[in-house]
Amino acid sequence: MTTALSIKSLFKSYGSVEILKDISVSIEKGEFLVLVGPSGCGKSTLLNCIAGLEDVTAGTIEINGRDVTQIPPKDRDIAMVFQSYALYPTMSVGENIGFGMRIRHVPQTEINQRTGDVARLLQIDHLLDRRPSQLSGGQRQRVAMGRALVRDPALFLFDEPLSNLDAKLRVEMRGEIKKLHETTGTSIVYVTHDQIEAMTLATKIVVLKDGIVQQVGTPDEIYNSPQTTFVADFMGSPPMNLIAASTDPDSSAVKFGNDQVVHVPGLADKVSARSSIIVGIRPEDFSIGGELKVTPISLEHTGSDNFVSFKLGETVATARLSGRAHLSHSEMGFSVDTSHMCFFDTQTGDRI
Ligand SMILES: Nc1ncnc2c1ncn2[C@@H]1O[C@H](COP(=O)(O)OP(=O)(O)O)[C@@H](O)[C@H]1O
Ligand SMILES: [Mg+2]
Repeated sequence: MTTALSIKSLFKSYGSVEILKDISVSIEKGEFLVLVGPSGCGKSTLLNCIAGLEDVTAGTIEINGRDVTQIPPKDRDIAMVFQSYALYPTMSVGENIGFGMRIRHVPQTEINQRTGDVARLLQIDHLLDRRPSQLSGGQRQRVAMGRALVRDPALFLFDEPLSNLDAKLRVEMRGEIKKLHETTGTSIVYVTHDQIEAMTLATKIVVLKDGIVQQVGTPDEIYNSPQTTFVADFMGSPPMNLIAASTDPDSSAVKFGNDQVVHVPGLADKVSARSSIIVGIRPEDFSIGGELKVTPISLEHTGSDNFVSFKLGETVATARLSGRAHLSHSEMGFSVDTSHMCFFDTQTGDRI
């Protein structure tokens, strides 16, 4: 396998403000890397550094094994799709897609051929003569992607390309982008603040916070084995419950207080003799019937699910149960899938 992108010890400052701190990430050819994190954490800055639109303060960037750190954007063999599609309003769809080739004096027959191929792939071949103003948001999005795809670059860069679309279209286009990646096998770096987009699109996720990489992993690793309370809380909707608890190693009991106890096989080994910990439990890892006594504070029925909130010690926790469960506000017993429980250090928030 070839490495499509390798970033080593990248730092980026604006003046005295350090925005990106010691970022090291790499992907193989054909991977779909998603950079995810809250607004302002440095995602676009990192993408712009990869594109060459921003200089780096320190560190190196290699694309397909070539050091491009000091190379201008046009020579990096990349194509970028922005949040605002930046289409030329006076050109037709076909001219927009073929523009890059036209300025490089590619023969017109070849331009037509490649524009047609990409338009068919994106299912906009019937729109080639229209102007951007005559298109819907989703169609404009496809044209912007077509303009990038037609170049067949070593690396595609996407910066929140779906955030201007309404919810339904966003889900639809998400599926299209995934399909496109699967059929073309291109290497992609994709920025989003939407953790669902990250989970569904990525082969590899980088979670960023304040310009620092929190965790790199497959969607499965990020979701099921978050390495910090930040990642646990950021990924998943509703997020992982993070609850302060004490431990009793002799009885393998996690105690949330007020007689709320869960027994965890092998607890002493899992928490390395800590007497107080933060316990992470995904909402779907609760089920009805068991030793944990809970009294629902609120019940929310969405059809497919029942979301139940209740106090666990001092924290309000949420359980996701089947929409078919019959629930009331009276006390009931819950059990917890202890094999999926996560334990975090109270001070650092790091996974134990
Ligand atoms: N040209 C700039 N000059 C100074 N600060 C900037 C500049 N561009 C971005 N920033 C700052 O860098 C941080 C990261 O921004 P950005 O990469 O756009 O975040 P994200 O894309 O994750 O929302 C923000 O605090 C932002 O204010
Ligand atoms: Mg951004």
